[in-house]
Amino acid sequence: MPKPDSASKVLLRGRDITRRWGGLVALNKVSVELERGSLHAVIGTNGAGKSTLINILSGEFPPSEGQVELLGQDVTDWSQPKRARSGLGRSYQRNTIYPSFSVMENCRLAAQARKPAPWAWWQSAARCEVSTAAAHDAAVRVGLGNALDRTAGLLSHGQKRQLEIAMCLATGPEVLLLDEPLAGMGAEETERMLTLLEQLRPDHAILLVEHDMDAVFRAADRITVMVNGQVIASGSPDFIRNSPEVKTAYLGDH
Ligand SMILES: Nc1ncnc2c1ncn2[C@@H]1O[C@H](COP(=O)(O)OP(=O)(O)O)[C@@H](O)[C@H]1O
Ligand SMILES: [Mg+2]
Repeated sequence: MPKPDSASKVLLRGRDITRRWGGLVALNKVSVELERGSLHAVIGTNGAGKSTLINILSGEFPPSEGQVELLGQDVTDWSQPKRARSGLGRSYQRNTIYPSFSVMENCRLAAQARKPAPWAWWQSAARCEVSTAAAHDAAVRVGLGNALDRTAGLLSHGQKRQLEIAMCLATGPEVLLLDEPLAGMGAEETERMLTLLEQLRPDHAILLVEHDMDAVFRAADRITVMVNGQVIASGSPDFIRNSPEVKTAYLGDH
């Protein structure tokens, strides 16, 4: 008998997800599994549907068809905040930081969003301490420990991307959906982020959308390749590297 997901390593699963925008099929029966202890990269050309996939898995908007399961439960109808409270964290391709707040304040706001009742101010002292600790830990982990009081809007582009990841981590997620976290980062920031992903991997299920192929082939346990809303191949980095279809459609001679 197959094990239920709660006992297996699969934390998040998308089943046959289709998304239409008018006549455009942005995703066509895409299935994906994220396991604890594994980094699953999703690659593909611009417009392939990668961000749409993350948006549907995280609950930003619903699929036209298909299901999303989180920890073995069908969450297709759940809102994004409800999924976030159940351990699903995501970062955005665009920055979503509050520019006039400090690094620490941004992380604390994110940490508080995980709490079931952020408006319950009468319970706030203990909650606040937990949020502060989570916020501090997240900022330090991404390498912003020496910039806690800096105004977020004044950070470098790479630091803003780091803050975006910190805000995701501050919510204490088990599943991380990261949309191009390395875009615009310098070499040193990229290395730091790859080291962080390596540290997070054992306890998390990670989906990484990324264009930096060196980073993808170094970091990923599994790679899914999308073209025009369809999965054309999925497997180990070696399998993908040697796949003739992937070479023709996407990688060239990488
Ligand atoms: N809100 C939207 N309304 C209409 N079309 C959209 C919307 N979001 C994405 N699309 C379209 O869906 C396709 C996939 O987009 P996206 O998921 O952003 O691709 P990727 O992240 O792989 O570059 C593109 O053709 C894009 O123009
Ligand atoms: Mg995108």
